[in-house]
Amino acid sequence: MTKILMVCLGNICRSPLAEGILKSKLPEDKFTIDSAGTGAYHVGNTPDARSIAVAKKYGIDISNQRARQFTRKDFVDFDIIYAMDTSNHTNILKIAKNDIDTSKVKLILNEITPSENLSVPDPYYGGVQGFENVYKMLDTACSELAKKLI
Ligand code: 4NP
Repeated sequence: MTKILMVCLGNICRSPLAEGILKSKLPEDKFTIDSAGTGAYHVGNTPDARSIAVAKKYGIDISNQRARQFTRKDFVDFDIIYAMDTSNHTNILKIAKNDIDTSKVKLILNEITPSENLSVPDPYYGGVQGFENVYKMLDTACSELAKKLI
């Protein structure tokens, strides 16, 4: 079983989409996919209605997800930890205890544009188009990732 964790700030917009999209591309008997946020503001909440809607439009149901905060234990529980942006990448690395922890942390968009360290923009304060844009980026990144993993 390969265990992959998607991480953003609130765990209500970007990482729930990344979780749902990657799950749709990988066999569930071989992969565990989860998501978390570095912040605690939305713990226990469902994904943002705009994320639920854009996922539904593309045939993915993320409405059962509930936000949780990233913890140090996630370094033990997961093999690969994907940050949605450079700020969350930095904050995850601050909690890492050793080189093994550090080696697990990657930026999701480096799956499309290696070494460019690009960020998935935070769509929270914008409109529906931002969610569509995030969906497309994550769909491309997760397709590349799935190709590599299967
Ligand atoms: P996410 O988006 O990190 O993609 O889930 C955000 C959601 C909420 C907030 C920030 C980003 N917030 O500040 O409440």
